[in-house]
Amino acid sequence: MRYLAANGLAAAALLAVLAFSAPAEASRRQLITLYMVQSGTLRQTTNEGTLNSVNTPLGYTLCMQKMSQMNISAFTGTFDLDTGKVIYDLNDFDESFVANFLYDVYRFATSIFLVGRENGMSDTNIYTCVRSFVNFYCDRVKDIANGVISDSFVWSSSNAYGRIDNLIIDAETNESRKKMLDKWTVINATTSTRKFMSNAVNPDLDAVNTTERSAIIAAMPAYYTNTITSTSFTNKAAYFKVLDVAKRLNAGTGSLGTPRYYVLVDGASTGTSDDRILDVKLQGKPTVYAYLSSTAKAAVDNAVANNAERAVKAYKKLINQADNHLGWMTFLSGNYSVRERSPFKASLDTAGVDLSSLTNLAEQWGVMLAGAHARSDGGSFGTPTSFETVVKNLVAGNQDLFKTEVADFAQRYANQVNEDFSIFRTSLAAGKLCI
Ligand SMILES: *[C@@H]1O[C@H](CO)[C@@H](O)[C@H](O)[C@H]1NC(C)=O
Ligand SMILES: *[C@@H]1O[C@H](CO)[C@@H](O)[C@H](O)[C@H]1NC(C)=O
Ligand SMILES: *[C@@H]1O[C@H](CO)[C@@H](O)[C@H](O)[C@H]1NC(C)=O
Ligand SMILES: *[C@@H]1O[C@H](CO)[C@@H](O)[C@H](O)[C@H]1NC(C)=O
Ligand SMILES: *[C@@H]1O[C@H](CO)[C@@H](O)[C@H](O)[C@H]1NC(C)=O
Repeated sequence: MRYLAANGLAAAALLAVLAFSAPAEASRRQLITLYMVQSGTLRQTTNEGTLNSVNTPLGYTLCMQKMSQMNISAFTGTFDLDTGKVIYDLNDFDESFVANFLYDVYRFATSIFLVGRENGMSDTNIYTCVRSFVNFYCDRVKDIANGVISDSFVWSSSNAYGRIDNLIIDAETNESRKKMLDKWTVINATTSTRKFMSNAVNPDLDAVNTTERSAIIAAMPAYYTNTITSTSFTNKAAYFKVLDVAKRLNAGTGSLGTPRYYVLVDGASTGTSDDRILDVKLQGKPTVYAYLSSTAKAAVDNAVANNAERAVKAYKKLINQADNHLGWMTFLSGNYSVRERSPFKASLDTAGVDLSSLTNLAEQWGVMLAGAHARSDGGSFGTPTSFETVVKNLVAGNQDLFKTEVADFAQRYANQVNEDFSIFRTSLAAGKLCI
């Protein structure tokens, strides 16, 4: 970890830090912006303090905490549930840990600002969208608290609107398991089994060496026996029989460069149509960990056995009927999260959003985040028994103030991100950084 030199620039530049991900040989630098208020009047600071102190009884709750990714397209998308249903939801939990839910609300709101600015929208219009986001978040939390709607509600092709229903319908129409398998694997005509493509055929894959291959195969039984909680598998040894292993290259935004493997397993039948690709990824501490108080660090660490379990537990808590392949494995001195690569994976394209389309998106994002937070409670890991009841009481009579405070904060934080990025680019162009 080292601070970006900010010669001659404002002290705020120190907020831009370059984080090095765990193993040095594979590390890439990533720009992160700390959750912090750069400026702001005493009134704003006091109000933020008030909201946080009102929240004290809540303690820590499970948040998705995308501190290192300010890009909505990178942490939401479509995928299929265990039931086969294709939904649009949060889809990346690598940075999740037990913390104050406001971090997610502020962070999401800031992402809305950045998306709007990227598309030339005025801050006034974006501000309106952020207020809609917070309004829908609060209303949904209240509805869940009041029993008006279940916390298992999800956005699917039957209820989503704006760009999201089209995204889901396209994924359902155009994507299939066969299409995904044919993108990553080839069938050997002699053996009638699939194996991964070579790097020459698919540049996002690369061969593993024999040490990696045997370490991963040896780690599989502990993964499927001890860490999968789903009871839906009848013969795990046959289902998880390894057909091939490859390195996965060029993937991720915040996690670019993190060691990651694809493991091809046989699936429910020995045929080639139901093979499954497991996405196996090294997990380290959340990026923001180094900046947490010792109490907050303890809350992160004490909730889980290791960082792979942290990412997996968060996934299971925040998403209803999440992928039944979720688990983790240990090999070559690392703890790796495991999930299935969904055949129905698609990212939202936010290009060209305007007041109307971003409002539609913001409303659905508010509902989506409220549902995830409401599902993540239940008293485990220091979360409240009923998150939605606590937050309902928190915003009672304060909802308008809350909307304004979140929008004000998000605007200042977006300024900070834009400033950090410009410092990053200037430093890069001046040869002060190497990638
Ligand atoms: C946001 O993330 C998406 C999906 O990962 C990517 O295609 C897009 O280029 C990203 N946008 C920016 C501005 O980084
Ligand atoms: C995906 O499906 C939609 C129909 O929902 C169709 O209009 C579109 O052209 C398809 N896109 C691709 C890339 O096949
Ligand atoms: C197909 O599998 C057979 C038996 O393992 C092997 O000898 C052959 O080289 C494979 N063919 C290709 C094209 O990889
Ligand atoms: C195989 O890969 C591992 C993990 O990337 C690496 O540590 C090891 O040096 C490699 N072994 C050989 C013989 O290249
Ligand atoms: C991997 O997880 C185990 C517990 O499951 C833990 O003892 C170990 O320290 C972890 N390894 C790393 C490198 O974090």
